[in-house]
Amino acid sequence: MHAEIGVIGGSGFYSFLDDVEEVEVSTPYGPPSDPIAIGTLPSGHRGAGRPVAFLPRHGRDHRFPPHRIPYRANLWALRSLGVRQVVAPSAVGSLTAAYGPGTLCVPDQLVDRTSGRAQTYYDEDGAIHVSFADPYCPAGRRTAVEAATAAGWPPVDGGTLVVIEGPRFSTRAESQWYAGQGWTLVGMTGHPEAVLARELALCYIPACLVTDLDAGVEEGEGVTHEEVLQVFAENVDRLRGLVGDIVAALPAERDCPCPRTLDGLKPPFDLP
Ligand code: ADE
Repeated sequence: MHAEIGVIGGSGFYSFLDDVEEVEVSTPYGPPSDPIAIGTLPSGHRGAGRPVAFLPRHGRDHRFPPHRIPYRANLWALRSLGVRQVVAPSAVGSLTAAYGPGTLCVPDQLVDRTSGRAQTYYDEDGAIHVSFADPYCPAGRRTAVEAATAAGWPPVDGGTLVVIEGPRFSTRAESQWYAGQGWTLVGMTGHPEAVLARELALCYIPACLVTDLDAGVEEGEGVTHEEVLQVFAENVDRLRGLVGDIVAALPAERDCPCPRTLDGLKPPFDLP
């Protein structure tokens, strides 16, 4: 079983693939969030037949809260199946009233406000320092922006996603502070997913759906879990369709800096 493109998303995403087979993968970091579903883009779809590996980030039954997701196992498992480009849809809060619920964003920056999450593969066996100035694949971002625009859902192109530890939402003061820094989105899962992808020389492509205005935004009343789930449910079909379009539009041969991430560095182990 082999797929060059991976999707890490919500459980409602399975149905965008045909001929799905599930693969149990073991990794040095334990099992991933769930068995990985490998299927193909459906007939009639652009890119029909293209293999895709799908992994539900929180597990099929949503048993992993953001701070307990086995991020290292997830990216390792995908790479071991041949994945080199990862599309990563997620729900986020907005730090500005300009981007209300239902807005799609393809951020270009990330701020890590998580704590205590294992966020590197290069640990006890020697240090490797990967570049992370631009955390997302530039070519993949462009593909995502173009696909969304073509689908009639023009996204916010750029912006900064601050990733908090959770699982609680932010206080008003925290949220106002983030917004005051000029950051635009807040989520709980974008880190360390992005950096682990980079450490494995994978392309990582975010597609963020705004589900709420965060607590510090004047119009926001404070976020509830219920509200996030409801807005996500209202938009999941559209987001799933868009992920299919992005997958279809990604190139077979990568033309971006991501594959060269480890050039000149000496990883202390063979990459999967
Ligand atoms: N995910 C969805 N909405 C969020 C918010 N407001 N803060 C953090 N993570 C979120």
